[in-house]
Amino acid sequence: MAGPIPELAERATECARRLTDAERVLLASHIDADGLTSAAIASQALERADIPFETVFEKQLDADAIAAIAATEYDTVLFTDFGSGQLDEITVHEGEGAFTPVIADHHQPADSETHYHLNPLLFGIDGASELSGAGASYVLSRALADVSGQTAERTMTTDGGGSAARADNRDLAALAVVGAVGDMQASGGELHGANEQIVAEGVEAGVIETSTDLALYGKQTRPLPKLLEYATDVRIPGISGSERGALSFLDDLDLELKRTGDGDGTGDGNWRRWAELSGDEKQTVASALVKRAVSRGVPASKIDQLVGTAYVLSAEPVGTELRDASEFSTLLNATARYDRADVGLGVCLGDRDEALDRARTLLRDHRRNLSNGIELVTEEGVTHAEHVQWFHAEDRIRETIVGIVAGMAMGNAGISRSKPIIAFADKRDEPDPDAPDQNDSEGREQNQKVKVSARGTHGLVRQGLDLSVVMGEAARAVGGDGGGHNVAAGATVPKGNEQAFVDRADELVGDQLS
Ligand code: C5P
Ligand code: C5P
Ligand code: C5P
Ligand code: ZN
Repeated sequence: MAGPIPELAERATECARRLTDAERVLLASHIDADGLTSAAIASQALERADIPFETVFEKQLDADAIAAIAATEYDTVLFTDFGSGQLDEITVHEGEGAFTPVIADHHQPADSETHYHLNPLLFGIDGASELSGAGASYVLSRALADVSGQTAERTMTTDGGGSAARADNRDLAALAVVGAVGDMQASGGELHGANEQIVAEGVEAGVIETSTDLALYGKQTRPLPKLLEYATDVRIPGISGSERGALSFLDDLDLELKRTGDGDGTGDGNWRRWAELSGDEKQTVASALVKRAVSRGVPASKIDQLVGTAYVLSAEPVGTELRDASEFSTLLNATARYDRADVGLGVCLGDRDEALDRARTLLRDHRRNLSNGIELVTEEGVTHAEHVQWFHAEDRIRETIVGIVAGMAMGNAGISRSKPIIAFADKRDEPDPDAPDQNDSEGREQNQKVKVSARGTHGLVRQGLDLSVVMGEAARAVGGDGGGHNVAAGATVPKGNEQAFVDRADELVGDQLS
């Protein structure tokens, strides 16, 4: 069987065989939406194939993290959504016989090679826009079902439904779509290439539905006025950013957009959600929005962005974060990026009680942090170098979300979309076991590290931008390391080298765009 992505089929089968040969597997994954969905896909596939495993998450797969993994008893380690960029460090242990790595990733590979390496970039597929870590894990899961001879009976659950899709792991396509959307692989309003093939399998398996719909964030959970007020990707004058404007726009439509029943008619809770509207009602609101945008001079290219492909997880309840791929991925970022990957994994694996409640609480904090972060950057502004712009959040934005903030702030007043943005944030004081004297404040200062996140646009990538190269080279020039994707990348550097880093990055970006 070829699997969803024919180019990857042979390698996926080899990786799957290696896993079925293992007595047990250590599964290591990355702490973001794509990493969590990768782990959720891989863990369900391992379980269904009867391969015992344990799961760990890492913020960064650095030499220390890899050494800790090598020190475990496991002979086989499955890395998902990272591993390719750290092959130089990983293969050191392979040589020593500590463990065999199996990798399902989509990041730019380092120089070393390893056999069980499933990465779209090795097969001519773009890892930044066509396949995510969750997508690579999904391809692996399909091969695992195949080589382990998984059957419908074996994977039957008590409700008995959907067992055919479970037998070949096609039901896991829903999580793969969430991972791809979480990594912002949808461009021009939809997923492309290999991702599209996964979507098609999800549709066939009955776990995904696609439709052409309004492209605003929050269609499932945001009350209508908030959906419109908070939409910032396409700004509609008089509505975006204006509570009163959004309310009066909706009031002027001849529709029953408030929920019937008790309540005093005020407050957000009384408004219906987009997902609850009928097709006709959606059409009416969308047409009025477009008409308003046109009349306020929003350019046609921007208006096009108001509509895109919506990816709906059809098994999830209407009006929940879980039903919309984009809202689901944000919910997962709200857990994993705050040291609660266990919560996000629980949600992915079907815990709809405790884990979901906890995730929703974390989501409120995450949203507040993003909005405070964006406000901070927009108010303080960025420093413009010739080819890049940058800011230093110090300890005011958490290093795990500073990249999201940077990306979302692009296009705000004073923050250009025609230059990549570089963001610095202090790494939180993690005691360094090798530091000579933990109590020596000077020694501590010297060991302090800074997290760097960089974000570009697909337009800049078409002009030659590759932030993965920029982050890697600029970081190594100042004693750090980095990598990632062409459009989004990151690094860690020793504190005090920020200006030198920016200078080097500025040069590199200048070369790439010339
Ligand atoms: O580590 P990983 O590959 O999962 O993360 C990819 C990162 O790149 C995400 O933070 C994602 O939001 C970011 N990205 C972006 N803009 C894009 C594509 C990806 O900010 N166009
Ligand atoms: O850049 P990175 O992948 O880390 O961003 C993670 C996700 O957070 C992106 O998909 C971004 O669009 C998303 N997001 C969010 N809250 C919003 C809107 C988008 O967290 N309100
Ligand atoms: O952390 P941030 O969201 O900025 O990461 C952007 C992308 O760069 C992610 O895909 C992440 O995995 C990658 N990255 C990396 N090496 C680092 C830091 C980030 O490959 N040191
Ligand atoms: Zn990823």
